[in-house]
Amino acid sequence: MKSNSAISESRLIIAIDGPAGSGKSTTAQLLAEKLNYLYLDTGALYRAFTLKVVKTGLGKGQEGEIVALLNHTEIDLKNDSGTLRVLLDKEDVTDKIRTPEIDREVTWVCQIPEVRTQLVELQRQYGRHGKVIAEGRDIGTVVFPNADMKFYLIATLKARSKRRQRDLQRQSIDLPFESIRSEIAQRDKLDSERELSPLVKADDAIEIDTTNLAIEEQVELLYTKVLEHVDHMRKSDAGL
Ligand code: DC
Repeated sequence: MKSNSAISESRLIIAIDGPAGSGKSTTAQLLAEKLNYLYLDTGALYRAFTLKVVKTGLGKGQEGEIVALLNHTEIDLKNDSGTLRVLLDKEDVTDKIRTPEIDREVTWVCQIPEVRTQLVELQRQYGRHGKVIAEGRDIGTVVFPNADMKFYLIATLKARSKRRQRDLQRQSIDLPFESIRSEIAQRDKLDSERELSPLVKADDAIEIDTTNLAIEEQVELLYTKVLEHVDHMRKSDAGL
């Protein structure tokens, strides 16, 4: 397969969806680096706005005020030598949006229809020139239904909870495994049973079970599939 120049010329939109802890974020980030694509962490947009809602002291039942707040909010993603920084009204909130409190609150904030509409619009703006790997829950179904490639990552609840525990420990947050497991199970339920843009696999998505895969293996697997796709496109464009 001889696709490296084809890759650099490609302008694909690649969607990666899946439940919490399935390895989407790390895989998407590393794959974006390998392909020199933009990594679009859509959960980070919902999380950043949730942080603002929480800081402002707004809560459930105040949807009108929350939507008004969004109209005065600037959320931006910046790639800083390989790591993604999340800016909320120009303040770097990358670490502040990964706390158990935001995990909890984001599940209802992201269900406000106008919040979704506006943040989906922002996501599409990021994707308008292609060369983007977008990761979330509804990328292949709602945000970019015509994405060039769609992946759906899954892993057992146990494997996902272990990964989450390790991520939290890296931030010096120590929580018992059982509470992490039940929080993820609860989020799975909310994400897949919710009314708006529930977590579902797009019909044309490639499903990958990451339970027994190391991150490097996951990235390599997706990378190979992207190369195959680009190669296939190149050949069909050339009428081969
Ligand atoms: O992927 P994550 O854990 O950072 O996502 C945070 C929350 O945002 C999660 O509860 C689901 C929601 N989300 C969403 O509704 N749609 C997306 N495209 C991405 C995330």
